[in-house]
Amino acid sequence: PVPLIVDVDTGIDDALALLYLLASPDAEILTVASTAGNVPAAQVAANNLAWLDLCGRPDIEVTLGSAVPLDDDLRTTEDTHGPQGLGYAELTASTRPLSDRDSATAWVEIARSRPGEVTGLVTGPLTNLALALRIEPALPVLLRRLVVMGGAFNHPGNTTPKAEWNISVDPEAAREVFDAFSAAPPDRRPLVCPLDITETIEMKPEHLRRIAERAGSSPVELITEQDPPGTRSRTGNPALRVLSDAVRFYFEFHRDHGQGFLAHMHDPFAAALALDPTWARTRPATVDVELTGRLTRGCTVADWHGMWGRAPNADIAVGTDPVAFFDHLVDRVGSGMRQ
Ligand code: BDR
Ligand code: CA
Repeated sequence: PVPLIVDVDTGIDDALALLYLLASPDAEILTVASTAGNVPAAQVAANNLAWLDLCGRPDIEVTLGSAVPLDDDLRTTEDTHGPQGLGYAELTASTRPLSDRDSATAWVEIARSRPGEVTGLVTGPLTNLALALRIEPALPVLLRRLVVMGGAFNHPGNTTPKAEWNISVDPEAAREVFDAFSAAPPDRRPLVCPLDITETIEMKPEHLRRIAERAGSSPVELITEQDPPGTRSRTGNPALRVLSDAVRFYFEFHRDHGQGFLAHMHDPFAAALALDPTWARTRPATVDVELTGRLTRGCTVADWHGMWGRAPNADIAVGTDPVAFFDHLVDRVGSGMRQ
């Protein structure tokens, strides 16, 4: 299995990414780091603990990350992910403690302990990883691979017209991370999974019904577009109930923003790439982050043609087969929740 450091801002799609990894025999989650983003870091950490407990993995370490971005006030987005980050879902709070070490320390200690073996997956702002790189600048070669959900290149942003959420929350961190990989050998370049591709990963009620069927649960009155907003699932399967009540909120958010009764599953797709990069076609590019633009702070810019005269520091995911991906996701997640 692929040994993983997973750094998340759980987050509805982060929660599905975790569920997918937990259900994947080819994944070994070594630690879950909590980054401030969708909700504050302490809430992210509480969500991670409760979700891992519910999914039967109370043994996995959860660390707390920085409460604030490197050089900015924290913004959160409860309107996208719900008051506590998991939509309409209500999780029972965990009684176990957070790890003694913070998230940046966990990145460093784990990468040093297994040089060249561990894949890092970040599906939130890059604050923790940037702090870890300040402690251990050799992380780009100590890690086997880094996969980042973030950015928008030939695509509008989802936070400002030019900026994607994870980068926009902490642009300084993102820039430090891309800079740190500027001298990385080609096989260590971060695999970047931007909105250009993740907005093609459209989860629909049909996918949730198929997950429920695969989990052996009665088919889903859970989610239809006709039900009133906030309709809760009645399944007796606790993990499926949380997933459904979380995803329902995400569907309604996307519908309220004119995108249809569906949800972009950014983070699960990045999680799949962490296990198997061949899920996406990629192109090398030099990526940089705008910090100062009056209208463009947090915008990611890709130089595809070497115009800056700087070596590529990223492989950007540019294409995939969303139908095949959802078949895979449904199969894994549904089987993993079978009771
Ligand atoms: C990213 O922003 C967050 O709200 C999602 O969890 C995802 O990681 C998409 O821009
Ligand atoms: Ca996220």
